[in-house]
Amino acid sequence: MPDPPRFVTVDDYEALAREVLTPAVTEFLAGGAGDERTLASNRRAFDRWVLRPRFLRGVAAADPSTELFGSPLALPVLIAPWAYQRTAHPEGERATARAAARAGTIMCVSTTALDLLEDIAAASGSPKWWQLYVFADRGFTAEMLRRVSSAGYAALVWTIDLNAYGLRHRETRVGYEPPISLTTQDLAYDPSIDWDDLGWIREQAPGLPLLLKGILTADDAELAVAAGADGIVVSNHGGRQLDGSPASLDVLPEVLEMVGGRIPVLVDGGVRRGTDIVKALALGASSVMIGRPAAWGLAAGGEDGVVDVLQILREELENAMTLCGCATVGDITREHVAPAPDG
Ligand SMILES: Cc1cc2nc3c(=O)[nH]c(=O)nc-3n(C[C@H](O)[C@H](O)[C@H](O)COP(=O)(O)O)c2cc1C
Repeated sequence: MPDPPRFVTVDDYEALAREVLTPAVTEFLAGGAGDERTLASNRRAFDRWVLRPRFLRGVAAADPSTELFGSPLALPVLIAPWAYQRTAHPEGERATARAAARAGTIMCVSTTALDLLEDIAAASGSPKWWQLYVFADRGFTAEMLRRVSSAGYAALVWTIDLNAYGLRHRETRVGYEPPISLTTQDLAYDPSIDWDDLGWIREQAPGLPLLLKGILTADDAELAVAAGADGIVVSNHGGRQLDGSPASLDVLPEVLEMVGGRIPVLVDGGVRRGTDIVKALALGASSVMIGRPAAWGLAAGGEDGVVDVLQILREELENAMTLCGCATVGDITREHVAPAPDG
């Protein structure tokens, strides 16, 4: 008898990653801010919705492919920017880049990536996005954005929710020390960023779609659209910034209502299952992003681990779509979710 497959779900990868990582790196990856109420709420928010499957629609198989800013995606799941990937696996961001390419999706590379942004860009031939933190040294930021453009990154994701570092008590308790990034040499971020900076960022990287990541209110969504953002990522940074801020999925409907289809709205935080992806898309998200699932996959299995995590989510998504009567991503609509009776 062959051994049963060991990795059936994303959570199985978390368990193995915890076995191979040092306690300090595990706490860095897993932890949230404060009492981790927001971190926990990101998961619970998916339980506040139930799926409404529709049958007898002749759906024998589902195709989860989609498209964002002109790039085809094999599935509506992008890899969220997450820092210091070489601490989880020696191949770091380059392994994640190759995995995203193999799975047919996009990796968003963090400003805090440990390798040079050009080397990560060259690790695979597929489109990648660059996540931006604006540094107090604007000359350096401008030069970094020039390098991002010439290295071929296809979009910018400006993370707006880190004008201060969240209170990550797990990191403090284990004495976690962040490593030095080759690209940034760990300069200080500019804590005084504001809406006027959006125009300045655009000028440094003309022609690249600019998404704002960290939006948690309809009001900020409206300001983002008015300021000319090309997309929004509804996110609370995986519960790592302001504890007590809402679950991303809980604010997704108000953001979508305000945006009214003018620009794509993505969401991240707590996505662990194909059914979570269907719920987010049924509410109106264009795509989801995953942070920790990719981190667990990388730690446990390197490039292959990340590919497998994406494959697990893909198979779960296909199964959930088929059982909901959705042959394509476009078939997933608001009729496929309802508030949970006990939610
Ligand atoms: C270890 C770790 C590092 C992260 N680093 C960054 C970062 O450098 N830039 C950023 O915009 N978001 C960062 N995030 C937040 C992710 O982009 C994403 O919003 C979050 O992980 C989504 O929640 P999930 O982990 O539940 O999927 C990080 C998240 C984790 C877990």
